[in-house]
Amino acid sequence: MLQKKEKGMFKLNWWKDSVFYQIYPRSFRDHNGDGVGDLKGIIEKLDYLSWLGVDVVWISPFFKSPMKDFGYDISDYKDVDPLFGTLSDFDDLVSEIHLRGMKIIIDQVYNHTSDKHPWFIESRSSLNNPKSDWYIWKDPKPDGSPPNNWVSLFSGEKPLSAWEWDDNRKQYYLHLFGKEQPDLNWRNPEVKSAIFDSIEFWLEHGVDGFRFDAASHYYKDPLFRDALKGPQIKKSLFHSVRDEYYWDRFSARPESLLAAEEIKSFMDSYGEKVSVAEIPADMGLCLYLLFTIPGRFDIAFNIDFMEKLSLNAEKVRELSENVDAFFGERAWPSYVLGNHDNYRIINRLTDGMKVSEDEKKSIAKLMATFLLTIRGTPFIYYGEEIGMEDTDIPYDRIVDPWGKSLWPKKGRDVCRTPMQWNNGENAGFSETTPWLPVNPNKTFVNVEDETKDPNSILNFYRSLLKLRKDHVALRRGTMKFQDVPCGIIFYVRKTSKERVAVLLNFSSAVQCVDLTFDGKVLIGSHKESGEKFRESIELAPFESVVMDVF
Ligand code: GLC
Repeated sequence: MLQKKEKGMFKLNWWKDSVFYQIYPRSFRDHNGDGVGDLKGIIEKLDYLSWLGVDVVWISPFFKSPMKDFGYDISDYKDVDPLFGTLSDFDDLVSEIHLRGMKIIIDQVYNHTSDKHPWFIESRSSLNNPKSDWYIWKDPKPDGSPPNNWVSLFSGEKPLSAWEWDDNRKQYYLHLFGKEQPDLNWRNPEVKSAIFDSIEFWLEHGVDGFRFDAASHYYKDPLFRDALKGPQIKKSLFHSVRDEYYWDRFSARPESLLAAEEIKSFMDSYGEKVSVAEIPADMGLCLYLLFTIPGRFDIAFNIDFMEKLSLNAEKVRELSENVDAFFGERAWPSYVLGNHDNYRIINRLTDGMKVSEDEKKSIAKLMATFLLTIRGTPFIYYGEEIGMEDTDIPYDRIVDPWGKSLWPKKGRDVCRTPMQWNNGENAGFSETTPWLPVNPNKTFVNVEDETKDPNSILNFYRSLLKLRKDHVALRRGTMKFQDVPCGIIFYVRKTSKERVAVLLNFSSAVQCVDLTFDGKVLIGSHKESGEKFRESIELAPFESVVMDVF
């Protein structure tokens, strides 16, 4: 039985049919009671994920790390940090996930290591040790200043140089992120071979793919020229001085595209695996396409969409129509509402608005409908399915290094707080005080209560996930946007056998939409399944409806 199921899952491009679920392991479930989530905690909750209906579990870093960037600073690529468990716990996790017919992908952070990685310790020890060229070391300018103007991506309102002085070598080393995250030198063949060795290690441990962190930054301008200061490309949510510089010197070097090809062909030798690349949004969709044409990475994580999302139907339609036209048959798009680097979707969408809890619920359902019916692979960030919101973090509990330089603006801790399993102490996440505070709204935003409530956000997600599985049109069908009144998005997904219509009211007003077909509700935030409509349909504020079309 299981065999048959597994066989079916290995069909071509299975990741196009899949829904990914991102787990931030520190915050999912704490099994050993130390206040930090762990791998055994994730195993405990696999039945929940399988009940929910997701296909692929993506686990953010759990490797050995001094945790200066909570795991994105790795000191051993091939071991589990004791905080999260052991390698044998990881093997159990892989088999438990596979047993339930799901898949697992893990993060690979190859732009940089931790400064406590033995490679870096050796590299910084002298000018001529065997690993002296494994990182990017440069002499100072004649006046002692850093070799160029590159700024760390963790800058706040003030620029932080991307170069850190090392007194031992009397040189600067490059760190595009925190100073404890020195950048690897991909131009050194030994470095590359060590990276491929680590990819192989985890493939041998049975993972179904990877999310490649900061994948467009691997190679830098070989001449290390200053980054151009240009017109601002955009103001990101975490707007900081870094946005004022074009990333022309360390984003999307052609060598990084070749690295994508090499990684892809290496992974292909292990059967059909998936590669998801983190590519910055600052250069828009072009970069996504460049990195994901066939033979390179499979999916670019759509940060651009996530960051530009708003409650403006016309803008969102334009955004997704562009994605669809741009990718077309050339590559496969993805859609994302939130991740561990961004504010929670509900907060972003309702920032500055007065909204009731009921409206928030409708908005969460509206976004879920959009995410799970649009053409592309959807990513759900843990807790999104219950409507989790940003948590206020007092200054003395801020732990995110970037969060500290952004203060008084909110940093990334707010979206990384413990998963809300129930209304009990610590929200059922841990038996002890968690590493980040629990959101006080756990009294009504939690898995246990929402499981029992047929109208909850959680049950809505679950029904949508099932609907997506049952309707090939929602996964592989074409998508055509219809012309509609202001504030509405209306598209039809179609295959030769099925037609499914999706109507989304992004406005806070009741709206009436003309229909050119007869439709039957498959799932709706306000309407009963089975209800029939012809000629027109009325939509409540923030209502979403998915209909079968005759
Ligand atoms: C990626 C991760 C982020 C991390 C950074 C450095 O952007 O998503 O969390 O801080 O890379 O590794």
